Amino acid sequence: MKKVKISASIICADWLNMGKSLTELTAEGIDYIHYDIMDGFFAPTYTIGTDIIRQIRDNTQIPSDFHLMVEEPARIFQRFTPKAEDIFSIHYEACRNLHRDLMAIRSFGCKTGVVLNPATNLEALDYIIDDVDIITIMTVNPGYTGQKLVPQTIQKIKRLKDKIDTSGLNIELEVDGNVNAENIPKMVGAGADILVGGSSGLFIKDMSLTESVARMKTYIDEGLKLRGQNG
Ligand code: DX5
Ligand code: ZN
Repeated sequence: MKKVKISASIICADWLNMGKSLTELTAEGIDYIHYDIMDGFFAPTYTIGTDIIRQIRDNTQIPSDFHLMVEEPARIFQRFTPKAEDIFSIHYEACRNLHRDLMAIRSFGCKTGVVLNPATNLEALDYIIDDVDIITIMTVNPGYTGQKLVPQTIQKIKRLKDKIDTSGLNIELEVDGNVNAENIPKMVGAGADILVGGSSGLFIKDMSLTESVARMKTYIDEGLKLRGQNG
C-alpha cells in the first residue's frame, strides 16, 4: 500500500516563528507545504500573497502544494514561479476553461490538481480525469480554517477512490478540511493518499509538531487497516 502523505497547511502555522516551524516540518519529513490562496471572491477571505510565499519557498526544500481558491486562477499562475515538483490545484467551480488551465499548469512541468467543493458532483471530473495528477476533495467549504467536516464527503472520497481505481490512472486523492484525530481514520479508510494538516490535525495549540505528526501517523495507520477491511 502507498504511503499516505501529509501536506502542511501553512496558513495555520505560528507566523511569529515561521523559521522554526519550517525546520521542524523538514525534520518530520512532511511531504508538501500547502499554500491556501484566496481572492475574497471565490473564497470569502484573504490569506497569503506572493511575497510571503516566495520567502517561505526560498527557505525550504519541501515542495509546494498550491491550493488556489481564486476565480480564473490561470491569470496568476506565473506569479508563483512554478517549479517542476510543485502541485497546482485549481477549483472546478472557478475555471471557465478548466482543461485549458490544466494544460497551462502542465506546460510549467508541475503536477496538475483539480479541487471539488463539497456540493460538486464527481461527474465534473469525467472529461478531464486523463489530465490530472491530483484530485482534492474539500471536506469543508473553502475559506476558513477550523471548520467542521461536511459528513457526506467521506462517502464521496470512497466513490472517488473507486472511480480512480476503475480508470487505472495514477492519480493521488487529496483531502482538505478538518483533517483531525476523529476524521483521519475515516478519510484514509475511504482512500485518501494526501492529507492536508491544518489547525485541527497538525498545528495544534500547546502541542509540538513532533507530537502532532506522530499522532497523525497513528490515525493514518488506523485508516489503512480500515481500508484493508473495506477491500
Ligand atoms: C480550508 C483550507 C484548509 C485549511 C484546513 O479552506 O483550504 O487548507 O487550512 O485546515 P483545518 O480545517 O484543519 O483548519
Ligand atoms: Zn487548502
